[in-house]
Amino acid sequence: MFVTRLDWTSQAGGALHGSVRVPGDKSVSHRALMLGALADGTSHIRGFLEGEDTRATAAVLHQLGVRIETPADGERLVHGVGLHGLRGAGESLDCGNAGTGMRLLAGLLAGQAFDSTLVGDESLSKRPMRRVTEPLALMGAQIDTQDGLPPLRVRGRHALHGIRYTLPVASAQVKSALLLAGLYADGDTEVLEPHPTRDYTERMLAAFGWPIEFTPGYARLSGGHALRATDVDVPADFSSAAFFLVAASIVPGSKLRLPAVGLNPRRTGLLAALRLMGADIRIENERESGGEPVGDLVVTYAPLHGIELPEALVPDMIDEFPALFVAAAAAKGRTVVRGAAELRVKESDRIASMANGLRALGVTVEEAPDGASIEGGVIGGGTIDSHGDHRIAMSFAVAGLVAEGAVRIRDCANVATSFPGFLELANGCGFHLA
Ligand code: S3P
Repeated sequence: MFVTRLDWTSQAGGALHGSVRVPGDKSVSHRALMLGALADGTSHIRGFLEGEDTRATAAVLHQLGVRIETPADGERLVHGVGLHGLRGAGESLDCGNAGTGMRLLAGLLAGQAFDSTLVGDESLSKRPMRRVTEPLALMGAQIDTQDGLPPLRVRGRHALHGIRYTLPVASAQVKSALLLAGLYADGDTEVLEPHPTRDYTERMLAAFGWPIEFTPGYARLSGGHALRATDVDVPADFSSAAFFLVAASIVPGSKLRLPAVGLNPRRTGLLAALRLMGADIRIENERESGGEPVGDLVVTYAPLHGIELPEALVPDMIDEFPALFVAAAAAKGRTVVRGAAELRVKESDRIASMANGLRALGVTVEEAPDGASIEGGVIGGGTIDSHGDHRIAMSFAVAGLVAEGAVRIRDCANVATSFPGFLELANGCGFHLA
């Protein structure tokens, strides 16, 4: 059992060393479960993220009649029921904290012959859902929200038809919801993106044998085919590796190796941002695994300086801003982030959570509606609130490594949504986190 405490204290304690094997990718794990469930045959998933988010998706699929076995930790055998084999659950489907789970399932369930109700925890219940329900309605779906928020009541038995849709915000979740609904639609479903986002749904649909055309920023498929069971090797999650990339970059004398991390170019914006700040991060053993680029990351301490973050990097590092803010606070000079308004509708308002937390540690931060300016330099001790947001909690654990006093972080239980075992892995390479 992993130990999860509600409050953590993180303290400085010298250089970080060792090899840190971070858990499997959250985005890939969700999708592997969903496509495995709709496939004909049994799919074997290895490297599956044993997080609360992905387990919630597995539990929902189980409620919908899919048998999923756990032969070992980090493995799942998904016995697919075929495209039309799901059956309605008599009760609500609980997505927990997972926006990815809820939004993708909304698309998947829109084309079924039964009604469903998707619910989530307190944080998920405040997250905007019209971004998926409106385009799904254009396809013929009927999904009721509570003023745009969960629960989502998905009415089945509505014939879906393909649409050509340009995403108003860069969102892989919205794109994926439309593509999953498109499996059940008459005609072509086409999605165009202003900024390309992670393409795991597209890649995985192709791997499961569904005809799909995609290039960065564009995807098109038609309904009426079948999914073939496929084994999936899930790479380590770059977003989990991110905390260690920042940690070793800011603690003098550190060197960490992070093996077999997924390096899909739509995920590695933080790597580029840290390098612009002066970080020393090398990629070794670059290879392909399960159709995804994977490599070992070797990060060595190097003094960082502030930057004006190029806006083009924002979608490729959308989950990494809390970690970047800590790198910025530890760097020399000012870092400016703009074009990142999406951060306000993540598991918490991440601009506000980070700005308030850093200010509590004595850092000067100016908030903007779509970003912030952070004056790097000295980080002090103090108490911060994670707002139940896993990435805020882990980011302040990293800040504690270079803080002048202890950093107390409230409400860390949700770290288990994406990174079970963080505390143990972190302490194993030199954190002082309790
Ligand atoms: C995800 C897409 C991103 C990201 C989330 C996972 C996915 O969300 O923040 O953690 O798996 O598709 P948006 O689509 O809302 O940007």
